[in-house]
Parts: sequence; C-alpha cells; structure tokens
Amino acid sequence: MTVKHPADSICIMTDMVLPGETNPLNNLFGGELLARMDRAASIAARRHSGHIVVTASVNHVAFNSAIPLGSVVTIEAKVSRAFKSSMETYIDVWIEDRISGEKTKANEAIYTFVAVDETGCPVEVHALEPQTELEIQRYDAALRRKQLSLVLAGKMSPHDATELKALFM
Ligand SMILES: CC(C)(COP(=O)(O)OP(=O)(O)OC[C@H]1O[C@@H](n2cnc3c(N)ncnc32)[C@H](O)[C@@H]1OP(=O)(O)O)[C@@H](O)C(=O)NCCC(=O)NCCS
Repeated sequence: MTVKHPADSICIMTDMVLPGETNPLNNLFGGELLARMDRAASIAARRHSGHIVVTASVNHVAFNSAIPLGSVVTIEAKVSRAFKSSMETYIDVWIEDRISGEKTKANEAIYTFVAVDETGCPVEVHALEPQTELEIQRYDAALRRKQLSLVLAGKMSPHDATELKALFM
C-alpha cells in the first residue's frame, strides 16, 4: 500500500441549478444537493482507493445558505482520512457571483465511504497523509467523527470511543 495525499483524490464538479431541482422557494432542493455531493465524494474515494466504493454514512451536512435557481455550484470533495477500508471524505460547496465570478462557501458535508471488492466485501485502502494546515485539522478530527458515527449506528460501544470521550473530559 502506498501513501497518498488528499490532493490525489480531489474531485471538482461544477453545475447549474435548473428548474425541477428546486423547492417551492426556488432554491436548490436539499436532496438534490445531497446526491450531487455523494457523487463527487464517491469519485474522490474511488480515486484514493482504486476500488469500488459504497456510501457507509453521511456524518455531517450543514445547509448554511440557500442556493437559488440559476446558481453555478461548485462541489469540491477530497478524502480527509483513510482508515482500514473506510475513508472520510470532506465536501465543500461554493456558489459563484454571476458578475464578479467571486466564490462564496454555501455548504459543507462529510461522508464516509468503504472500499469493497466485486462481492461487496471491504478491502484495505492506501494510507493518507495530509499536507496543508486545513487537511491536518480535518485528518486529526476524523477519528472522533468515525467513532461518533459508529456509536450512533450501534456498531461501537460508547465505552470504546476513546477519542470521542476525550472531547468531554
Ligand atoms: C458499508 C459496508 C460495506 C460495511 O460493511 P460491514 O460488514 O459493516 O463491514 P465492517 O464492519 O468490516 O466495516 C467496514 C468499515 O466500514 C466502517 N463503517 C461501517 N459502518 C460505518 C458507519 N456507520 N460509519 C462510519 N464507518 C462505518 C467500519 O468502521 C470499517 O472501517 P475500517 O475498515 O476503516 O476500520 C456495508 O454495511 C454495506 O455494504 N452497506 C451498504 C452500502 C450502500 O449500499 N450504500 C449506499 C449506496 S452506495
């Protein structure tokens, strides 16, 4: 297994918000954004692992700003930490001003993917080494997010969630 960097997995998708993808307030429908983020993040996880990947959990989504009809939306996904077979993927969503082209952060999310073989069994993935300050912050916090996700899914006892417990002590 080789060591890879978050930049090796980056997936950037730019698209427009069209009628039929909006809610009654003419803003992007939340489920549509979730699907777009899932697609970009799964490509990032596939680029990191070189395997088929499946979404294991959606760990966090913040719909901070509404995204109006006609907006140009850029979704940037990168693997933020690799474990044994699972990968945390961080997704940043930007909208751009039509006249100035300036990009404003609208939303962010964190998804977990698992690399699997043709029969759906988890397989080991490359290690990930963060490089920038932001990548290091996200990498360091990923283990407690994994533990929280596993505790909520009933797959880990809260007693074993050492990183998570350390937050409250
Ligand atoms: C995700 C899946 C492969 C995990 O299989 P499993 O039998 O639970 O396998 P394991 O218990 O060995 O877990 C595999 C990895 O997933 C991680 N994982 C499982 N559930 C998780 C959750 N809710 N949150 C975070 N990580 C999770 C485990 O911690 C483990 O990570 P590691 O190998 O890096 O330590 C399996 O549950 C599955 O196929 N789910 C359906 C996926 C799907 O259809 N997604 C939507 C369409 S893409």
